[in-house]
Amino acid sequence: MIDKLSSIIDEINSTKISGIDELESFRIKYLGKKGVIAQLFNDFKSVPAGQKKEFGQKLNETKQLAQQKYDSLKSSFPSTSRRMEEKDLTLPGDPIPLGSRHPISIARNKIIDIFRQQGFTIAEGPEIEDDWHNFSALNFSVDHPARDMQDTFFIQQDPDILLRTHTSSVQVRYMENQSLPIRAVFPGRVFRNEAISARAHCIFHQVEGLYIHKNVSFVDMKQILFFFAREMFGIDTKIRLRPSYFPFTEPSAEMDISCSICKGKGCNICKYTGWVEIMGCGMVDPNVLSNCGIDPEIYTGYAFGMGIERISMLKYGINDLRLYFDNDKRLLDQFISFH
Ligand code: PHE
Repeated sequence: MIDKLSSIIDEINSTKISGIDELESFRIKYLGKKGVIAQLFNDFKSVPAGQKKEFGQKLNETKQLAQQKYDSLKSSFPSTSRRMEEKDLTLPGDPIPLGSRHPISIARNKIIDIFRQQGFTIAEGPEIEDDWHNFSALNFSVDHPARDMQDTFFIQQDPDILLRTHTSSVQVRYMENQSLPIRAVFPGRVFRNEAISARAHCIFHQVEGLYIHKNVSFVDMKQILFFFAREMFGIDTKIRLRPSYFPFTEPSAEMDISCSICKGKGCNICKYTGWVEIMGCGMVDPNVLSNCGIDPEIYTGYAFGMGIERISMLKYGINDLRLYFDNDKRLLDQFISFH
């Protein structure tokens, strides 16, 4: 047994170690839990009583020898953390996958930016409204069909509290509270009780706009909306105003743009007319101005309102409203480079 120990000591002394991996194999072989030395400690029980003392001492020396050899070599090899430091820190990092903005947000931001360039500020208001701000102040007569249960979501059967059907309600709040002149746009989510299909949804988004000052004319409105159409859909875009009706504007119009898909030649988006409708607009009705505490003898103004979904559909070629609400990554991923 003692001889066995002597040969192990020789073996330890003569082991050549020239790298950190070899050092680790050495540690496992001699000092590991199941290594040579641990095994010898197990064998200690079967050593004859007369040899126990000598064997025990020699075994301890062997262990110390292996441990010392390991300790002294360990500091002479570069440690793993030193190796980390030697990594090239100028290498580019691992790429982090980017998310994308929703096509509604992209279109809304673009619309807002265009009007901001023209001096419009941005205002928001509550989605839960009262009858006054959503309808009455806007000159809707008591029996106007838009107040009907079929269009409007009322809250808890209370005919006075409802989900706003347009952001014109924010225009009313703004006229009531802000000093004149007013030049602002009103983005937000609106609600109408409609069956969900490719062309209609019960939730959608609008940007409405309002300009009130002395001597504001229909021509001013046409000018700003023409500017908007060209900024949004390209410099060749034409506009067309058709007479229409809204309770809160007089005169009222609907604005078409030359179809941005077929460039006016005719396609199924514009139903082969070359024109697509994108917004309602008009001169603010004098009744609305006085309802909001503004003297219609001194001030005039124009208002307009558009659906963001519609703008985004035309701009990005999206053909089904429901796609906006599906959160399908395959759609969203196509907008990664849009801001
Ligand atoms: N509020 C109208 C709508 O929701 C849009 C509009 C706004 C029309 C301002 C004219 C003037 O349909």
